Amino acid sequence: MIMGVFTPRALLLLVASSVAVTAGSSGRLASTVSNDSKGYFDYESIQLLPEDLKALNDSDAVLFDFDSASSESVNAARSSTLCKIFPGDRLWPSKSIWALLDRVTGGALVKGVPRATTCYDGPGYDADDCEYLTSQWTNSYFHADDPIEMLSPVYQGLTCQPTTDPSDSCTMGGYPHYVINATDVAQIQLGINFARNIGVRLVVKNTGHDFSGKSGGAGSLSVFTHNLKGMKYIENYEAPGTEWTGAAFKMGAGVQAFEIYKAAADRGLMVVGGEGQTVGVAGGYIIGGGHSPLSSIHGMAADQVLSMEVVTPDGKFLTASFVENQELFWALRGGGGSTFGVVTSVTVKAFPTIPATTSTFSFKTGGDITYDNFWKGVRAYFDYFLEHSDAGVYSYFFILPSNGQFTFLMQPFVAPNKTLEETNALLSPWFTQLKNLGINFTPNTTYFDNFYDAWLGSFPLEVVEKTHVATGSRLLPRANWEDESLLNQTFDAIKASSDAGLTLIAFNMAPTLERGGNPDNAVNPAWRKAVMHALSSVNWAANATVAEIKAARQEFTYTHMQRWRDVSPGAGSYLGESDRMEPNFQQSFYGSAYPRLLALKRKLDPRNVFYAATAVGSEDWKVVTENGLPSEAGILCRVG
Ligand SMILES: Cc1cc2nc3c(=O)[nH]c(=O)nc-3n(C[C@H](O)[C@H](O)[C@H](O)COP(=O)(O)OP(=O)(O)OC[C@H]3O[C@@H](n4cnc5c(N)ncnc54)[C@H](O)[C@@H]3O)c2cc1C
Ligand SMILES: *[C@@H]1O[C@H](CO)[C@@H](O)[C@H](O)[C@H]1NC(C)=O
Ligand SMILES: *[C@@H]1O[C@H](CO)[C@@H](O)[C@H](O)[C@H]1NC(C)=O
Ligand SMILES: *[C@@H]1O[C@H](CO)[C@@H](O)[C@H](O)[C@H]1NC(C)=O
Ligand SMILES: *[C@@H]1O[C@H](CO)[C@@H](O)[C@H](O)[C@H]1NC(C)=O
Ligand SMILES: *[C@@H]1O[C@H](CO)[C@@H](O)[C@H](O)[C@H]1NC(C)=O
Ligand SMILES: *[C@@H]1O[C@H](CO)[C@@H](O)[C@H](O)[C@H]1NC(C)=O
Ligand SMILES: *[C@@H]1O[C@H](CO)[C@@H](O)[C@H](O)[C@H]1NC(C)=O
Repeated sequence: MIMGVFTPRALLLLVASSVAVTAGSSGRLASTVSNDSKGYFDYESIQLLPEDLKALNDSDAVLFDFDSASSESVNAARSSTLCKIFPGDRLWPSKSIWALLDRVTGGALVKGVPRATTCYDGPGYDADDCEYLTSQWTNSYFHADDPIEMLSPVYQGLTCQPTTDPSDSCTMGGYPHYVINATDVAQIQLGINFARNIGVRLVVKNTGHDFSGKSGGAGSLSVFTHNLKGMKYIENYEAPGTEWTGAAFKMGAGVQAFEIYKAAADRGLMVVGGEGQTVGVAGGYIIGGGHSPLSSIHGMAADQVLSMEVVTPDGKFLTASFVENQELFWALRGGGGSTFGVVTSVTVKAFPTIPATTSTFSFKTGGDITYDNFWKGVRAYFDYFLEHSDAGVYSYFFILPSNGQFTFLMQPFVAPNKTLEETNALLSPWFTQLKNLGINFTPNTTYFDNFYDAWLGSFPLEVVEKTHVATGSRLLPRANWEDESLLNQTFDAIKASSDAGLTLIAFNMAPTLERGGNPDNAVNPAWRKAVMHALSSVNWAANATVAEIKAARQEFTYTHMQRWRDVSPGAGSYLGESDRMEPNFQQSFYGSAYPRLLALKRKLDPRNVFYAATAVGSEDWKVVTENGLPSEAGILCRVG
């Protein structure tokens, strides 16, 4: 029998309790807490307080109670063989218990329904809707409002993709079972307390952009943060505990890149965020230490954070800043999402906008361009990585193999705060070398008088929902560029992956500590030394068997990616765009910050309310899937 992680008291009452929900009865549990000095969003003033639970009888109240046990006592009582409770288990909450959760959250509970259900036989079948969603499927904007969909469906388990054959099966796989469609803090507190007290798996979904599908989880209760859209401009923010004052934005956890960039641009400002338009800037992106087209000027987005509001695993709502809950504040700036709590808002620095010049171009083998000259041309580019990134450049380029041919695509090269002439001066020595190799093309190099237009006009909207691909990445350090022989080895390792047919997506940037203002935060230290964030992707055939996928993934992770690790021992990898199977992920994703992060995790979350694959503390747990492939389509159990 599968046993749950629960507090014994909750178990007894759970089995005994049955709830009758009276239609139309209110029953919300929340108080309005105002505190001018906190600057809460309205939705953050709606909080759960211990006294709110008095509206329930004891047996119901215990389901939503805060955790007051010390981490020492919880750790001491810990068993090592438990799994989270799962639909179908005897202990899985009855419908009436879920109805109670819905009632106390004011109707925020949503059943997880795969978006593509309308493509399948059954009551949900709707041919027109199926056709529509199929046409929109690879567009990340389309999935923004969906409470359960993730953009890397491989990790959902691919159990309900769009299809033209309605007789295919559509099952829940790694989709969350229930979702709290959060619009205030009290609902999040109730969800966390409920999951912790009962032993249901909890996940957090913002946009679903994580490359390893960390917003999903079979049989889970999900907290969906997308609708926490607050945005507030603060002209003269004074960050307590620091000298810093200046323009800032407070963003709700659901704010996406395209929204905050527009809001900043409307005031002649810019903020540090990702290149991807739909990324959840205030969610997993900042918490996970994400990179930005402004990283070679301002460092990481996490370096810009001045304050955060967060619901912790015990259900409390806290501020984490330079003067309150400092250790948590340190960890939430780079230590990864779904680990220490649910962030509800983030306040970040804003900067006056700057102009930028971008350049887009490509060349490929074939015609006059031989394989050797193609690679000589690419190799020549690597010689400029230090100069470019030290000058503030962020470049985004691809090497795409296809039937033995190769395409190099720069899309785009971004030179923030540079004129056309300055940008041409950076690029022309390389372009001359390319010309001498017989590689001719006409770059589109365009000057923009503000950063927003440069970003919007130059970055592609990436295609999402790929169904037979896995990605890994490496942060390659500056030291590899400071020694020609090491640079040759680095280049050869990258080229070997291209020769093997893998897709390269890479960035040249230098988000050093100095550029970030020497912050003390949990961003992977490997970022500070990196001048290249390189991603590699392996594709398998659409009809590949499980055994073939496993073999392809093994070879990818342990042969192809190993070459990159071998040339950069001790470096790392960016957790938000990473291989779910990354060996020694603790070192790769967190580096020397790991022991400190793990100690905080054990202290703040002794009951393991939060889990995400490769997150801090995740080594104690495993999602057990039926086919053995890494995905969210299984029960979460303790390891060992
Ligand atoms: C098309 C595309 C473009 C991208 N572009 C960039 C880029 O330019 N720069 C870059 O650095 N990365 C980029 N990424 C990677 C992406 O930023 C990271 O995966 C990031 O973690 C996504 O965060 P999210 O909240 O949007 O997504 P989600 O997948 O919803 O969340 C990611 C993780 O954070 C957790 N989480 C989310 N919100 C919260 C919260 N409020 N509190 C606690 N935990 C939370 C989730 O549980 C999950 O574990 C891109 C990804 C894609 C698919
Ligand atoms: C507590 O209240 C619920 C209604 O929410 C009711 O069904 C249940 O029987 C009550 N339990 C006790 C012990 O009174
Ligand atoms: C309001 O916030 C301030 C600053 O964090 C804090 O010192 C104070 O105790 C809070 N007041 C209440 C009533 O919570
Ligand atoms: C979630 O809440 C938002 C805001 O109230 C609403 O617009 C949206 O339709 C809800 N989503 C679901 C799936 O219920
Ligand atoms: C942009 O360039 C100007 C002029 O060279 C310089 O004064 C300014 O500090 C630069 N801004 C940033 C953000 O680097
Ligand atoms: C060059 O790039 C700019 C900005 O992205 C775009 O507006 C313009 O149409 C492009 N020109 C050509 C010829 O492609
Ligand atoms: C690096 O490789 C180039 C050829 O690409 C070669 O000319 C050069 O000698 C190599 N340098 C070292 C130190 O091996
Ligand atoms: C997959 O399809 C290809 C042809 O498209 C075929 O050669 C191969 O045998 C198929 N593999 C499996 C496992 O069905």
